[in-house]
Amino acid sequence: MTGPDWTRREVIALSAVAGGSVMAGDAMLGAAAAMAAPVARRSFDVMLKINGREHRLADLDAHTSLLDALRDHLQLTGTKKGCGLGQCGACTVHLDGRRVNSCLVLAVMAQGAEIATIEGLAPDGELHPIQAAFVEHDGFQCGYCTPGQIMSGVACIREGHTGSDDEIREWMSGNLCRCGAYSNIVAAVREAAGAKA
Ligand code: FES
Ligand code: FES
Repeated sequence: MTGPDWTRREVIALSAVAGGSVMAGDAMLGAAAAMAAPVARRSFDVMLKINGREHRLADLDAHTSLLDALRDHLQLTGTKKGCGLGQCGACTVHLDGRRVNSCLVLAVMAQGAEIATIEGLAPDGELHPIQAAFVEHDGFQCGYCTPGQIMSGVACIREGHTGSDDEIREWMSGNLCRCGAYSNIVAAVREAAGAKA
């Protein structure tokens, strides 16, 4: 039954339909019909509202993360890709005001939300107070983690988690810095929050 032109996928599909048994007659016809059935849709037209502007992405693969949609499809490369696994925070953006790791969010699921990225923090070229504080306190070295740190810092302040340096450290702990600029990052968030040392 498994002639040389059969792909492994076809064999597995047929086996699944036939419950792994050898098929003949009606069973074979049923299996063929199952294989001809329409498969689930794999791509969609997606509308994303980013920094107050709508962007349409035509025929976007359903598996595309929000991070890849931003960087690879919309050239909004301020948001960085570190681990791609939700572990480093480099890809932090805001969804309806909440910080999220955009590598863990499917772009199709972000439709209808207000998405904020680092590009939206200084729309007129004037630094956001937390960006100015990062410059003031040398809150970065290589700068790769910085957009994520800043987006997380903005949310940390908005959430009211800046009562002490320990609290800032705790609530910024999802954002890793391989350069180890942590003490300066905490100082920058503290200053932007108007909190005391
Ligand atoms: Fe998303 Fe690391 S790239 S958490
Ligand atoms: Fe280099 Fe944070 S400044 S990883």
